[in-house]
Parts: sequence; C-alpha cells; structure tokens
Amino acid sequence: MISRRQFLDTLAVGTAGLAVASSAKSYAQILGANDRVNFAVIGLNGRAYAHLSALKANAAKSRVTHIVDVDSRILNRYAAAVQKELGYSATTDKDFRKMLEAKDVDAITVATPEHWHTPMAVAGLQAGKHVYVEKPCSHNPHEGELLVAARDKYGKLVQMGSQQRSSPHTIAVIKRIHEGLIGRAYYGRAWYVNNRKSIGVGKVVPVPAELDWELWQGPAPRRPYKDNVHPYNWHWFKLYGTGESLNNGTHEVDVCRWALGVDYPKTVTASGGRYQFTDDWQFYDTLNTSFEYDGKMISWEGKSCQAMRVYDRERGSVIMGTDGSVLIDRDGFEVYNQAGKKVEEYRVNSVKTSSADLTGRDSMTDLHFANFIAGIQTGEKLHAPIEVGNISVTMLQLSNIAWELNHELKLDQKTGHVLNDPKASAMRFREYEKGWELKI
Ligand SMILES: NC(=O)c1ccc[n+]([C@@H]2O[C@H](COP(=O)([O-])OP(=O)(O)OC[C@H]3O[C@@H](n4cnc5c(N)ncnc54)[C@H](O)[C@@H]3O)[C@@H](O)[C@H]2O)c1
Repeated sequence: MISRRQFLDTLAVGTAGLAVASSAKSYAQILGANDRVNFAVIGLNGRAYAHLSALKANAAKSRVTHIVDVDSRILNRYAAAVQKELGYSATTDKDFRKMLEAKDVDAITVATPEHWHTPMAVAGLQAGKHVYVEKPCSHNPHEGELLVAARDKYGKLVQMGSQQRSSPHTIAVIKRIHEGLIGRAYYGRAWYVNNRKSIGVGKVVPVPAELDWELWQGPAPRRPYKDNVHPYNWHWFKLYGTGESLNNGTHEVDVCRWALGVDYPKTVTASGGRYQFTDDWQFYDTLNTSFEYDGKMISWEGKSCQAMRVYDRERGSVIMGTDGSVLIDRDGFEVYNQAGKKVEEYRVNSVKTSSADLTGRDSMTDLHFANFIAGIQTGEKLHAPIEVGNISVTMLQLSNIAWELNHELKLDQKTGHVLNDPKASAMRFREYEKGWELKI
C-alpha cells in the first residue's frame, strides 16, 4: 500500500502518477479524513506565533507535531501556547537536527534569525521535508541561489513567508494593474516606517542557563554573548540580520516588483545612515534605494526610528502608471486618476492588519499557509515559491551592498549578479564558522 509520505510527495512534486484534479478526493480515500500535514515549527519567540495562528486556522489539514528553540524559556512558553490553542501537545526539541530525524514530520517552518534561514531550509530539504521559510529566505545573495538549487535537487516545496502574495485584494488589484487599470505601470514606491528605540551598547555577560548560544550562532562565526542581541535585536547585527530593508522592505518591494512585472533591475543605488541614535546598530535607520529598469523603476524608503507616516500609512506601496495610481497596503487599496483624485477604495472588513500585531498574525498569513498546505496535498501552485521570493530578497540584499559601498551597482538582469565590481561581488557571500560551511 502507498505510504502517507509517498502519497504527499507524489502530489507535491506534481510530476508523475496522480492527476492533481482528483487528488483531494483520492487523498481522503487513501489516507482517511483525519490525515494532515505534520509540521515542525522552528524559532519560537515572535513570528512563530503567527505560524501557530495560521496552523490553527488550517487545523483541519495540519498538525503541529514538533516545536524547536534553543532557548528553553521560549520553548516552554510556546509549548503552553500550542496546548492552549490547539488542545494537544507537541514534541519539544532544542536541536532541530534531532527533529529532522523524525519520519512523521512532513514540513518545517523557519522563524529563526536570518543567519539560520538557508542552512535550516537546506537541511530540511535534505531530510525530505517541505519548507516554509520566513522572509528573507537567506542571509546573502549566494545563499538564496543555493536554496533555489536545493529545492530543485531535493524536489520538495519551498514557500517564502511573503504573505501578501496570498492577500486576495492584493492578488485582485495587481491582476487589474496587469490588465491596464492605470495604463502602463512604470513606477513603484515602497515604504516602511517605525519608531524603534536605541539598542544601546551591549555588554558581554554570562550566557543565560536556558540558552544554547553555540547552537543559536550555528553557522555564524563565534562571538561572546552580549545582552542586546537575543531575542529580536540580532536584526541590526550583520552576522545574523539583514537590516530593515530585508526585515520589512522585502514585503513592499515585492508588491511593487509583482505589480510592475519585473525581476532584477539594471542598477541599484542606495543612500542613508544611522542618524537617530549612536549605538551598536550596524545598519541605516534611514534609507532610500532606487532600482532602475528600462522604462520603469522602484524606490524603497525605510525609516526605522522616525515614524512620520507616508500617505498616512506605516507601510505600503504605490504603483504609478500613465493613466493613474494604485495605493496598496495590507488593509486594502485605493485607485487614483492621473490628476491624483481618488476614484475607488477597498478596505478589508475595515480592520487594520498592518499595525494590529507585531508578529504579523493576520488572515494573509493564514491563507499563505493554506496555499502551502494545498501545494503539498493537492499540488496547488505556490503563491511565493522560493525562486520568486528570492528575487525580491536578493534585490534588497544588493541594496544593502550598494549602501555599504556607497556606489551604484550594475547588474546582469538575468542572474542578479553584479557586473565588473569585485568588491560588491565578494559581498554576495559570508564567512561561516568552521565546520558549518553550507553545501547542498
Ligand atoms: N512575514 C512576516 O510578516 C514576518 C513578521 C515578523 C518576523 N518575520 C521573520 O521571522 C523571523 C523571526 O523573527 P522574530 O521576530 O520572531 O525573531 P526572534 O528573535 O523574536 O525569534 C527567533 C527565535 O529563534 C530562536 N533560534 C535561534 N537559533 C535557533 C536554532 N538554531 N534553532 C531553533 N531556534 C533558534 C531564538 O531562540 C528565538 O526564540 C525573522 O527572519 C523575521 O524577519 C516575518
């Protein structure tokens, strides 16, 4: 008899064997209505709570069998949340490699710091699991390419956590833009603002007894433990994080890229700095980036510590064309004519989602998980397959490189590789702790 795992694999890869159209029915017949995709959630402090909500929303088709974190305080808190929200307990692990040995895990979700995203996603693929990896899918452009290649090599699904790709109103209005709603769309403006506090100057302190700092660092070169890195503030340290551009620009630039129907730009320029505070923060808090194409462009403005809103919104994208503009955010969209007059407005249930919850719990994420699960169970096309997500991620990593080098980058538009610029090309890679080099 066909095993549950073989059955899911046949559907997900969608090549030989079963016809996708009849797959949902066959699935229920072969495996019984109770069968679900078994998930392991890795990295449990913040965003993982949105994963839990999404898996709860998709409880008829999924089950959380394993949860993993290197900090037992965070692990225990999440274990209690699983019990409360789902009404059953999950196996807890500190080391994700142990969890990967479990045959009953079908899919992993990765919500760790970013120096772990590609290494964990690749390890998951190598262990035969499907992967939902948070944005950004990688720490640097080279890793993004490796992850796409690993997906192809191991034949499992990889969805990136750019959940706006599953937002129904965004899908609908972008389709209308593609059909000519604002004429020829040529300019996408993306922004994000926040009022983040200073992270101060960290002190070297003893590693908390509950934390496995060795495994937290994993592929990153070893450093003493400081009191202002874990959790969350690793975002602002280059060994682990990728700055606001990847933390939030990834979402809105991705929407612009999708609306304009473009991939890699011809050039990237970026300027800005750490202007609000003087502290350990290693990126800009104020940044402007331009991505130029033939006849089109995307701009990205990120402000981490100055929350003056743009179009009265903390985040969003405006797509401008020859006949008008469309403002798109997580709560809806507005259409303007060429004279700048609003001619249409749509809001999702009049509920604000963009600022409602810092972990980003929302219906888009529920739908993004539903799409991932349907991809596994019935071969449904993913909304943010890794090769699509990776282009937006790489563009913002290139913005970081352009900012750091303080000069324009010229790109090969097919590959996203920097042309004739050895310094920038060298920054496509990172240094690994010895023994943790990434191979696929
Ligand atoms: N899609 C979205 O809208 C969205 C929203 C928020 C965050 N995110 C992304 O989610 C990721 C996590 O962000 P966060 O704010 O939850 O960070 P966080 O620091 O609050 O949580 C990360 C957790 O990962 C754990 N961890 C570190 N190394 C680990 C390892 N080797 N094994 C298991 N656990 C490990 C840490 O102990 C911590 O609990 C980031 O990449 C972020 O960009 C996405």
